[in-house]
Amino acid sequence: MRLFFAVTPPDHVRAKIAHWQQLWSKSVHNVKWVKEENLHLTLKFLGEVVPTQLDQVVSAARSALVGHPAFALVVGGTGVFPHPRRARVLWLGLKDDAGQLARLQQYLDRSLSNLGFPSENKPFAPHLTLGRLRQPSEVARPVFPAENLILPVNRIILYESILKPHGPLYKPLATFKLQ
Ligand code: 2AM
Repeated sequence: MRLFFAVTPPDHVRAKIAHWQQLWSKSVHNVKWVKEENLHLTLKFLGEVVPTQLDQVVSAARSALVGHPAFALVVGGTGVFPHPRRARVLWLGLKDDAGQLARLQQYLDRSLSNLGFPSENKPFAPHLTLGRLRQPSEVARPVFPAENLILPVNRIILYESILKPHGPLYKPLATFKLQ
């Protein structure tokens, strides 16, 4: 099973983001846009995990996240990976000036590395993927109106990603509430 941990925006935030996807889609083509119901912020991607290890993964996450306070982030700014002249991924950034999200990500990462899931070797770049280009291309990054769109980070979800012909299905397996 293919697993990852993510923060899921509430419906009104996803609706706003979907609106921004629509605006961006007017100036960039050949993009597979992430469906509104699938929009999420990945904290840790585990890849293939044997089902017998699921309980260990859940306990490791529980011990990493217990007692961690809930917080909120401001969504803001568009970006692309890996480079504006050959973009493959279009995303929205999150302002984590106080480093709360990065800390949460580190706890999770460390706890899971004890189970043998390798730590990320790249610095954590919090983002919500909006779409993926079928061919790397040069894209302009639109500036969306500066509204304070808030992403509450009050629970982390462990998802199974099930690849279906019409796109991935993200099935929640466990929820970790922050306090
Ligand atoms: P992305 O949003 O940056 O594309 C489910 O597939 C989630 O796990 C996606 O949000 C994706 O991040 C992330 N993901 C998929 N494959 C990954 C990989 N090899 N390394 C890190 N994250 C990955």
